[in-house]
Amino acid sequence: MESAADRRNGAVPPGANAPAASIVAPPADTVALDALFRDSNIGETLDRLDRELVGLAPVKRRIREIAAFLLVSRAREQIGLSTGAPGLHMCFTGNPGTGKTTVAMRMAALLHGMGYLRKGHLVSVTRDDLVGQYIGHTAPKTKEVLKKAMGGVLFIDEAYYLYRPENERDYGQEAIEILLQVMENQRDDLVVILAGYKDRMEAFFRSNPGMSSRIAHHVDFPDYDDEELFAIAALMLDSMHYRLSASAQDALHEYVALRRAQPHFANARSMRNALDRARLRHAKRLFEERETPLSRDALMTIEAEDIRASRVFASAGEPQ
Ligand SMILES: Nc1ncnc2c1ncn2[C@@H]1O[C@H](COP(=O)(O)OP(=O)(O)O)[C@@H](O)[C@H]1O
Ligand SMILES: [Mg+2]
Repeated sequence: MESAADRRNGAVPPGANAPAASIVAPPADTVALDALFRDSNIGETLDRLDRELVGLAPVKRRIREIAAFLLVSRAREQIGLSTGAPGLHMCFTGNPGTGKTTVAMRMAALLHGMGYLRKGHLVSVTRDDLVGQYIGHTAPKTKEVLKKAMGGVLFIDEAYYLYRPENERDYGQEAIEILLQVMENQRDDLVVILAGYKDRMEAFFRSNPGMSSRIAHHVDFPDYDDEELFAIAALMLDSMHYRLSASAQDALHEYVALRRAQPHFANARSMRNALDRARLRHAKRLFEERETPLSRDALMTIEAEDIRASRVFASAGEPQ
């Protein structure tokens, strides 16, 4: 039963096939899961994920489950119960701005910490990075991207655009076929995460069963509720050393509720954009009063007017 891989992993000590009288110790029959856990540093990564990302309870739970599975796989491997590299390709579904890219980066770090990825970096691409415009351009493009991603995570945003059934000579198919091969043959050196809207991804998997069968973990990202969006905004401001005055807090609560109902709402990304604009208005306001010396507090504090000037508050007009 002993394989070359077992020997490399140290699961089978050298000379294990020797006669019983041999002084070589048999494979260990206990393994310290907790020591593995501590050595891997994943506790810290998981705690940071909990602390630094608002909400996402089901996502955080799924990631802990995956981490536990991988840790136990490691323990099994150490004791000689090797099952080969566990499937690690994933699919993250959810609306824009729900944290998919952010969590994928954390996942890359986690897999690196556990020794499942050599480098742990993330290469984020879309169809245009993989698929060429002309015959013969797609394979080299896809292979170049794969080369960059080796040892880390290849994150394919809106992966379903690779498949265009309406165009039977679409080069996307070529990219899919190369990806499928690498996902199978180099699964111990590359993790692919497909991301996008849930319904489109499901349709993509129905038409591409080969892709579907290579995905080991599906993680669904829910929309944030109003309180979570507010908390995300507060966290973003805090990390940039800004604060909201009491009346600006009220204004931002109102903003969140109004913005959600308007077109092109993109969860946490809409919050980031709103704050960028509020910071511009804050700066403009301070500049207009530049004769007065500025306190640290004034430089830090977003006022209600910086929020309420948004067109989101106008009854008609474009969202902003
Ligand atoms: N739960 C969260 N807590 C804090 N910030 C978040 C959270 N989710 C998303 N963000 C922030 O919102 C922005 C958009 O998130 P991103 O991961 O790019 O979303 P997606 O990839 O799903 O479109 C990023 O700046 C990210 O840091
Ligand atoms: Mg993204």
